Amino acid sequence: MDSLPFSQACENNKPFILEVLQRVFADCKQVLEIASGTGQHATFFAGSMPHLYWQPTDLAENLPTLQPRIEQYAGENMASPQALDVRSRPWPLDVPDALFSANSLHIMAFSAVKELFAELGLRAAPGTVLAVYGPFNYDGRYTSESNARFDQWLAQQHPDSAIRDFEAVDALAKSAGFNLLEDNAMPANNRLLVWQHSVAEPEGQ
Ligand SMILES: C[S@@+](CC[C@H](N)C(=O)[O-])C[C@H]1O[C@@H](n2cnc3c(N)ncnc32)[C@H](O)[C@@H]1O
Repeated sequence: MDSLPFSQACENNKPFILEVLQRVFADCKQVLEIASGTGQHATFFAGSMPHLYWQPTDLAENLPTLQPRIEQYAGENMASPQALDVRSRPWPLDVPDALFSANSLHIMAFSAVKELFAELGLRAAPGTVLAVYGPFNYDGRYTSESNARFDQWLAQQHPDSAIRDFEAVDALAKSAGFNLLEDNAMPANNRLLVWQHSVAEPEGQ
């Protein structure tokens, strides 16, 4: 019996996320995952994309949830989980050529989202790909009734948690040097946003 920490949402969304990551991470080598949770995404994506070396991370207090599943992973393309709080800068880890985070921007405070992009603005190299999964609002509106109810629930859990405005997050990404490549619709009214750090123009162009 599987007694590891488990998220049904991860099981549901992982094949749809994989389809996009296989395309946008095709030329990448190493992924820093922020807020890995139970490790279901890390183990599934690392197992499905053996060309990537996957670094799972989460808040130090969440490592006991993350570690057990990562320890059971049999492949060789997985780093041991590291503590990462996006607010504690500079981050104690390398920023590689790919980053992934799911269902985290609406949990952490918006000030933490700003810290995340500020760090990437300083540390990400041209060409770095950033993929972020989760619910977003557009034009100040929920994309569904269920997202509106989810946002109410989030506010009850913590006053700093909230579904983020796509435009606000994209503005942070732009100021960090990232251009939006894709905005993919996902099941259950979620999105998979993909940015790439601007690739420097060749000299003389
Ligand atoms: C809803 S869970 C999502 C976990 C996993 N990515 C998933 O999709 O199931 C939100 C995660 O954000 C993490 N988190 C919250 N604040 C954070 C911060 N400041 N820095 C890094 N991770 C944070 C939590 O520890 C938790 O694992």
